[in-house]
Amino acid sequence: MGASNHRTWRIERARSIAAAAGLPGYEVLQYHRSYLPSRVDLPVELDPDGDVGWVGPDLASYLRAEPQLTLVAYSPLLKGAYARPERLGAEYDLPSTPARLAALHAVAAETGATVNQVVLAWLMGGDVPAIPLVGFSSVAQLEESLAAVDLELTPEQRASLDTAR
Ligand SMILES: NC(=O)c1ccc[n+]([C@@H]2O[C@H](COP(=O)([O-])OP(=O)(O)OC[C@H]3O[C@@H](n4cnc5c(N)ncnc54)[C@H](OP(=O)(O)O)[C@@H]3O)[C@@H](O)[C@H]2O)c1
Repeated sequence: MGASNHRTWRIERARSIAAAAGLPGYEVLQYHRSYLPSRVDLPVELDPDGDVGWVGPDLASYLRAEPQLTLVAYSPLLKGAYARPERLGAEYDLPSTPARLAALHAVAAETGATVNQVVLAWLMGGDVPAIPLVGFSSVAQLEESLAAVDLELTPEQRASLDTAR
């Protein structure tokens, strides 16, 4: 069993134990999710075997099948890297990254929103909806992120973001 499948199995096991005991189970999961996919094979500070904090295919499909669970997505703005691409780390060095960044910028230009706002709207309105847990270091950054709540992507814009790879 891969490390990420093992993670889904442990969540399911904890929920089963809680249900059998008549206790509340997990209702909210906090994991790393953003628009750009991340490599999960690189060692990170807490996970020498690779990043198990990222919402990969296993967890995304689990959340899709269990809509009563709420996903809180931490570091959705990749610590400011959408606005400052020089901050993009090696974990985003994937073949799909240039196409996804191009789609993101195209939708931002079309909507008049910032790339950060498009990322947040994409996360909130996706088929695996997430509550973004954003960070900010100025009131302007906070206001920019909050305004993403009012940005509704059209089905065409969402499709262009989803299919870019
Ligand atoms: N559960 C976990 O394991 C876990 C792990 C990581 C984080 N978290 C939590 O998640 C929350 C957010 O984490 P994060 O700070 O990594 O989130 P993030 O939203 O990905 O990054 C926030 C940073 O992005 C930059 N930024 C924000 N708005 C911007 C804008 N409009 N333009 C340009 N740059 C912008 C700022 O950096 P500058 O200051 O450089 O401008 C800001 O500090 C925190 O509360 C943290 O505790 C949880």
